[in-house]
Amino acid sequence: MKANASSPIGIFDSGIGGLTVAERIIKDFPTEDIIYFGDTAHLPYGDKSEELIRHYSRRISEFLIEEGCKLIIIACNTASSVAYEELCKDFGDKVFFVNVVDPAARGISKMQGVTDIGIIGTQRTISSNIYAEKLKQLRPDFRVHSLATPLLAPMIEAGFFNHQISEAVIETYLSDEKLHIIQTLMLACTHYPLIKEQIDDFYKGRVSVFDSTDFISEEVGTILDKHRLHSEKKLRKDHFYVSDLTESFEKTTRLFFKGEIELKHCPLWENQKSYSYE
Ligand code: DGL
Repeated sequence: MKANASSPIGIFDSGIGGLTVAERIIKDFPTEDIIYFGDTAHLPYGDKSEELIRHYSRRISEFLIEEGCKLIIIACNTASSVAYEELCKDFGDKVFFVNVVDPAARGISKMQGVTDIGIIGTQRTISSNIYAEKLKQLRPDFRVHSLATPLLAPMIEAGFFNHQISEAVIETYLSDEKLHIIQTLMLACTHYPLIKEQIDDFYKGRVSVFDSTDFISEEVGTILDKHRLHSEKKLRKDHFYVSDLTESFEKTTRLFFKGEIELKHCPLWENQKSYSYE
């Protein structure tokens, strides 16, 4: 492994949903540099084949490794569900990978007094059955109720949240009988923190709601501790790349990421040019 403690942390998602994770990492690890890659050219991943999602994830990982990342966070439940193992197999000797599914499954499995867990996410995440399988292994007493909610990510991308339209869509999904008896709901898509408030409003305290940002930092902290990879830089330097850059992505970015960031276009699939990390 070439990277060292002062090397950046790479974070990627199908688009800008993973910025919810990036924001949490920046808050919890203020001395770490971040390189974010949002694959906006291929968004959404949720309805793509496993093969294609793996192909995109591999190329992005190669890029982040070329940029010298010491650890890569797959800030996308869909890619975490279908590509994590292959990425570890192919690049695990060069970089550490953290997915968003395992930390959430471990965190939820420690919860006491609950038996019925709801999972909502993209079609691909839900059809992979990964949350149900991992939770069943950790807590055989849990009953897992999974529901694909494919309209939510595109709806959020289009800026519809805290809005009558999103309220109606959320209400329709959450009223599905599969979710009737849940006590805890995992938002298994990194876009969904943006509608967490509306989901909480729907449940009015009857269901506790969690998302990927609630569990990710502990996992990242453990790896940095274990391998003595904490950076001690005083001044951070972040880079945010997207594979397609439009005004609409720039506008949506401001919804996902409260601070000011500058998106840079990095057409990873057009030319295989590496963008140097300074
Ligand atoms: N943010 C991605 C996830 O966590 C979903 C969006 C997409 O379908 O690309 O699964």
